Amino acid sequence: MTIRPFRPDDLAELKRITIEGFDGTAIDQNVEKRFGVVGGRDWRWRKARHIDDDCAANPAGVFVAEEDGKILGYITTVLDREALKGRIPNLAVDASARGRGIGRKLIEHALDYFRREGMAFAAIETMANNPAGQHLYPACGFVEVGRQIHYAMKL
Ligand SMILES: CC(C)(COP(=O)(O)OP(=O)(O)OC[C@H]1O[C@@H](n2cnc3c(N)ncnc32)[C@H](O)[C@@H]1OP(=O)(O)O)[C@@H](O)C(=O)NCCC(=O)NCCS
Repeated sequence: MTIRPFRPDDLAELKRITIEGFDGTAIDQNVEKRFGVVGGRDWRWRKARHIDDDCAANPAGVFVAEEDGKILGYITTVLDREALKGRIPNLAVDASARGRGIGRKLIEHALDYFRREGMAFAAIETMANNPAGQHLYPACGFVEVGRQIHYAMKL
């Protein structure tokens, strides 16, 4: 398994892994469960769009785990060069490759990138109903600094 920089032709596969991986924890899926499909676009479209946005905003900070030509996972990052904060908005590993340490290696790769870019701290969030994130992030050295509640209403 190697970790390499993102290429534009990775995008469709990254979105597939995302939609599969976030089934059950995506906020927009919770919105949809409560209010039904919003604006004719389902939660999968909404979640995949985050990956389009991440890859457009900072393509040099998106890293892809690959083995024998197959994409196994990815991590996206954002740099705030004024606040010196590196943030990880999205991370997913294909279901077939989980539990092999790839998620941890992607995080370590992103943290090395942040250090190289002069960031002073790193941030990542996870949903309360995502036990894998809550296990993995402290195991990688992150400490909890706050909790947020998401509200939505239909208009
Ligand atoms: C979170 C995710 C990226 C981890 O990828 P991975 O390659 O399986 O990660 P690793 O193998 O490096 O480590 C996973 C760790 O989480 C643990 N874990 C996995 N599922 C777990 C669960 N349901 N409850 C508690 N711990 C869990 C594993 O035991 C492992 O810990 P260990 O190394 O101490 O044994 C992957 O599960 C995923 O893509 N999930 C769906 C998308 C997602 O939730 N992304 C993160 C959003 S915050």
